[in-house]
Amino acid sequence: MIAIACDHGGYELKLEILKYLDKEQIPYVDLGCDSTDAVDYPVYARKVTSAIKDGSCDKGILICGTGIGISIAANKVPGIRAALCTDCFCAEATRQHNNANVLALGGRVVGPGLAVKIVDTFLHTEFSGAERHQRRIDMIEE
Ligand code: RB5
Repeated sequence: MIAIACDHGGYELKLEILKYLDKEQIPYVDLGCDSTDAVDYPVYARKVTSAIKDGSCDKGILICGTGIGISIAANKVPGIRAALCTDCFCAEATRQHNNANVLALGGRVVGPGLAVKIVDTFLHTEFSGAERHQRRIDMIEE
């Protein structure tokens, strides 16, 4: 199950990503926001990270204007590895190397076509499981 949320800066892009998730029949829970009215992105970062922490979702997608603020907020939560991606190379690498569990996107940075490809790559790439990558992830948690 994917948890997805955005602030006002990411709302329009979230709608495009929801269309992709619907088309691909990928199960998700949309945790807001629900319009372009201004809201505070840490609230939405918390909603998605809480859904991962409580086990109801295994991955998250967070979108704000740049993707920066919402990824900074998400990465304050132990066990959350949020990766701000602007290309498919990074989306693939962060799953393989970092076992990232949250993808952050900037609604004012990437267009919908690229964003959907980034989401697709992120959701369909597995963690490599290599000892060196797990060791580094464990060091972050410590
Ligand atoms: C909101 O205007 C904007 O600051 C927010 O969406 C995000 O870009 C913050 O990092």
